[in-house]
Amino acid sequence: MIVEERLGMLTPHRRGHSERVAEVMRSLAERHHLEPQDAHLAGLAHDLARELPRPDLLAEAARLGLAWGLEEEEEPVLLHGPIAAKWLEAAGVGTPSIWSAIRYHTTAAPGLDPLGRALFVADGVEPGRRYETRAMLYDLAHQDLDAGYCAVIEQTLTYLQEKGLAPHPDMMEALRECHSR
Ligand SMILES: [Fe+2]
Ligand SMILES: [Fe+2]
Repeated sequence: MIVEERLGMLTPHRRGHSERVAEVMRSLAERHHLEPQDAHLAGLAHDLARELPRPDLLAEAARLGLAWGLEEEEEPVLLHGPIAAKWLEAAGVGTPSIWSAIRYHTTAAPGLDPLGRALFVADGVEPGRRYETRAMLYDLAHQDLDAGYCAVIEQTLTYLQEKGLAPHPDMMEALRECHSR
C-alpha cells in the first residue's frame, strides 16, 4: 500500500525518524488511551512527502487541489504534511483524525484532537532529536499530553526565534489556545 511504497522511497535517515516517531506514538497512545494502530500509522506516514524537492512540493500540492498561503509559497517544505495527508486520504488509508494529524504535524493548529497533538509532540521529542530539553518534553507529554503539546510549541517558537524565522500563523493560533486553557 501507499505507506510502505512511499516509505521505501525515503532515505534511511528519514525512515529511521519515521519509525521512531511511530514508536513514540505507540507509547503515547498507550499512556493516553488513543487507538494504537492509528497512532502508529500517523507516525510512520507523517513525513512521506518530506523529501520531495521544493518545486515538486508546489506542483504536487496543486495537482492534489490543496490551497496554500504566503508562508507555503516562501517555504514549500510546509506543504509536506498536507500532501502526505492527501495521499493517504486519496488511497482510502487511515481516518480523518489521522489525516488531520499528518496535515498539521509541522505547525500544530488550534482545535487539534489528541491524536494530532500526540503526533506534533512525537515528531519533536523522538529520541533521534538532539536538544537539551528533549527528554524532559518526552516525559511531560507522557504525563500530560496537552501540557507536553503546549511545551513543544513553546520550544519550537524559541528555536524559530533563534534562527530568525517567523512562526506559521497556525502555530500562533495553537499557542493562543494553549494560553487560554
Ligand atoms: Fe515533517
Ligand atoms: Fe517528522
